[in-house]
Amino acid sequence: MTRDILNLFSMKNLRCSWYLAATIALVVALVSIVHMVFFTLTPSYEYFKVVSYSTISSNASSAELTNGFGKAAIDLKYEFPADLHGAHPYKGTPWEAEIGRWLANCDSLTKDVNISETLHGNDCKNECSGLGVCNLELGQCRCFQGYTGDGCTDIQELECNYPRSNNQPFGKWVASMCSANCDKTRALCFCGEGTKYPHRPLPHTCGFIINRSSETFRVNSIRVDQDVFTTNGSIPGWCNVDPIEAYEGKVKFKEECHCPYDGFMGRFCEVPVQYVCINQCSRHGQCRGGFCQCDNGWYGADCSTPSMISSIGEWPSWLRPSRVDVPHNIDFSEKLFNLNVVVAKKRPLIYIYDLPPEFNSLLLEGRQYKGECVNRIYDENNATIWTQYLYGAQLAIYESLLASPHRTLNGEEADFFFVPVLDSCIISGAGFSPHLSLQKHMGLRSSLALEFYKNAYNHIVEQYPYWNRSSGRDHIWFFSWDEGACYAPKEIWNSMMLVHWGNTNTKHKHSTTAYWPDNWDKISSNRRGIHPCFDPHKDLVLPAWKLHDADVLKLKLWTRPRQKRKTLFYFNGNLGSAYLNGRPEPLYSMGIRQKLAEEFGSSPTKDGKLGKQQAEDVIVTSVSTDDYDLELGNSVFCGVFPGDGWSGRMEDSVLQGCIPVIIQDGIFLPYENVLNYDNVVVRIPEEELPNMINILRGINNTKIDLMQANVQKIRQRFLYRDCVILEAERQKAAFGYLDDWKVEFLKLMENDVTTTLIQVLHYKLHNDPWRKQVGYNKKFGLPNQCVVNTN
Ligand SMILES: *[C@@H]1O[C@H](CO)[C@@H](O)[C@H](O)[C@H]1NC(C)=O
Ligand SMILES: *[C@@H]1O[C@H](CO)[C@@H](O)[C@H](O)[C@H]1NC(C)=O
Ligand SMILES: *[C@@H]1O[C@H](CO)[C@@H](O)[C@H](O)[C@H]1NC(C)=O
Ligand SMILES: *[C@@H]1O[C@H](CO)[C@@H](O)[C@H](O)[C@H]1NC(C)=O
Ligand SMILES: *[C@@H]1O[C@H](CO)[C@@H](O)[C@H](O)[C@H]1NC(C)=O
Ligand SMILES: *[C@@H]1O[C@H](CO)[C@@H](O)[C@H](O)[C@H]1NC(C)=O
Ligand SMILES: *[C@@H]1O[C@H](CO)[C@@H](O)[C@H](O)[C@H]1NC(C)=O
Repeated sequence: MTRDILNLFSMKNLRCSWYLAATIALVVALVSIVHMVFFTLTPSYEYFKVVSYSTISSNASSAELTNGFGKAAIDLKYEFPADLHGAHPYKGTPWEAEIGRWLANCDSLTKDVNISETLHGNDCKNECSGLGVCNLELGQCRCFQGYTGDGCTDIQELECNYPRSNNQPFGKWVASMCSANCDKTRALCFCGEGTKYPHRPLPHTCGFIINRSSETFRVNSIRVDQDVFTTNGSIPGWCNVDPIEAYEGKVKFKEECHCPYDGFMGRFCEVPVQYVCINQCSRHGQCRGGFCQCDNGWYGADCSTPSMISSIGEWPSWLRPSRVDVPHNIDFSEKLFNLNVVVAKKRPLIYIYDLPPEFNSLLLEGRQYKGECVNRIYDENNATIWTQYLYGAQLAIYESLLASPHRTLNGEEADFFFVPVLDSCIISGAGFSPHLSLQKHMGLRSSLALEFYKNAYNHIVEQYPYWNRSSGRDHIWFFSWDEGACYAPKEIWNSMMLVHWGNTNTKHKHSTTAYWPDNWDKISSNRRGIHPCFDPHKDLVLPAWKLHDADVLKLKLWTRPRQKRKTLFYFNGNLGSAYLNGRPEPLYSMGIRQKLAEEFGSSPTKDGKLGKQQAEDVIVTSVSTDDYDLELGNSVFCGVFPGDGWSGRMEDSVLQGCIPVIIQDGIFLPYENVLNYDNVVVRIPEEELPNMINILRGINNTKIDLMQANVQKIRQRFLYRDCVILEAERQKAAFGYLDDWKVEFLKLMENDVTTTLIQVLHYKLHNDPWRKQVGYNKKFGLPNQCVVNTN
């Protein structure tokens, strides 16, 4: 009988559903315990993933490495010759290698370990009434926007408008303000019944009278613009305007009306397109306005987690089973049950919490502006439009980790725990609709964000056993906003923080943003504690999201040698109040950009002044340009100064092969706490700023060439390649073609941001002193030579 069953499984075209497997298991279990061996399924992402692991620069074949493993010695000095350039990772790690490959080495020697993964089957009440997705690990519903309660049966009313008053018939102004039909499941405004296009968005600038004069443009939030409902083509309307007639110029329409919501394209929102969802629901669900509605048997924020009833043939590559053990004492009276599968994996293993949707999916659903908090949207043909949204890294890392072979469902075995709170969505949406009100928070987005993190902490402490073991030290949180983790609630400060800016608060002790709603000085220490914004011993600064289109990539500006870079120093950005449209606050950029402009400004201020030390080969300007990348690529040195916190200039410089000149004291930039920046960048103390150009002119060509070469070597570690390739794979599966950006990205074979993060985690796994104290007793699969003895 057993043989017949195995034959069944080996039948090529049989889609083995777990309903079937469970039935079979029942029969088999009566006879004996089975060990069914499933061989590797056709990998989907694997082809691309391989690139991330092929980091060994040495000559040795993989066979030799495997043989070498466990034997007496790998001579790391031989395998990975010490960096000759003086640039090296901190703390004397033996992982030291040539600069571009720093951290990569022992990581790639790591051997597989067998991990038992549990597929969960804890059912939810009423199967969430079809209005949510069951988290089968906790047996709790993740309800769609607008629904709540155990079985998602309670209806939530998300108002578009604040309560009305006598002189404010629509309540006080808010971005979600609606003069027609508010969809209260999402707090979005539409034209509504009685119009020709009831599902056409009617955002606030559109639905109300606009008071235009030569200087002002003010939405009059008291008076509804009745013209938007007109059917008379001579009057600028909106809700009844036929797109074709309007494109042909036959009818007028109100110019201020746009199509800001996700899921629609075209001037009149007439083209339905894909919404942005986490991993676009991993091919196992529908993206429902930003929320993944998973197919039966799948769950998780991105539908990437299978259950007992998912077909094995569709299990994702990160969970490819090597062996499935069905225990003989299963209680088959329940429809679902938990099942262990054994999977060969490499450490570090990361458990990703499937948090309730208010920390992720609900923030994507109901965005007032489609470009906010995501790194892509979709065009009329559902092709990917990568956005230049600087805070897009948070979604990128989340998506990459969810699909990573380092992901585990087994919290007992996990080395790290990722807590995915999307603060870029919280902050960019804060105050935009009444349910995201800042009233309780003194108008501070920082305070609202803190509350979300605190709630996420409460959730994981209440629902899971993992936090207490290390007091959260093995947990990872991402704070993507300008100043990073300054306003992390005190409860989570032990954890590792991923940020874009590492203020150690040694010199700049207070909030450094000039944008007051993000200021955190006023948040009480009862909530925030007294921690700094960044602790280089445990946290990590990651690059911000920067993505160039295929045309820029093809130019390969980063390879340009010094001789072809005509500009000595380049900075283009806001230089403060002396300039047209300059930021008025003296605190902006901690005053640094303003001082820079006073000394070296190359375009005139409002008063027509140039910098005191203006020079021909020095460009310091606030005049924006379409050739920004070309100008970076034409410069030897490029300025990295703060904005309201980080400003992405390190990324700009490195990506175009320009040597970064960093002026911001006590603040770590991407990777700076794991990579010695000497011989990669020039760091100048703030008080030396007036001397900057003299200092740069004093650097000889040998040194410049060395630094430039080093910048090129770390360049790809500033790209979110993994996330881009995952998207390319999805699009290829859907449309069967390669976009040009994908072709260009496939040419980039070095370690990217995600791989670097994994390598840093690997390094921490073996070097974090606290792990010894908690009696860590696991097989790491790592050669002893790679483990630093920190006794
Ligand atoms: C590989 O090793 C051989 C000697 O063992 C050496 O001659 C050759 O240059 C090496 N190749 C590379 C790419 O390092
Ligand atoms: C993992 O399991 C496989 C299959 O049972 C076995 O062949 C292999 O030796 C195991 N590996 C380790 C490191 O235990
Ligand atoms: C338009 O704005 C101007 C200046 O704010 C104000 O004087 C005028 O009363 C406004 N008109 C209407 C119709 O609201
Ligand atoms: C349409 O509006 C124009 C301009 O206000 C007006 O002259 C015309 O009479 C209107 N047409 C109809 C059919 O109401
Ligand atoms: C794009 O996706 C949306 C939503 O899935 C769908 O309605 C639309 O037909 C698609 N458009 C094209 C051109 O495939
Ligand atoms: C975790 O630790 C806290 C504080 O040390 C304690 O109050 C709590 O009961 C612990 N929780 C669990 C589940 O052990
Ligand atoms: C260039 O500068 C470096 C250090 O700044 C120095 O060690 C080196 O000798 C100089 N090279 C030449 C050719 O002057």
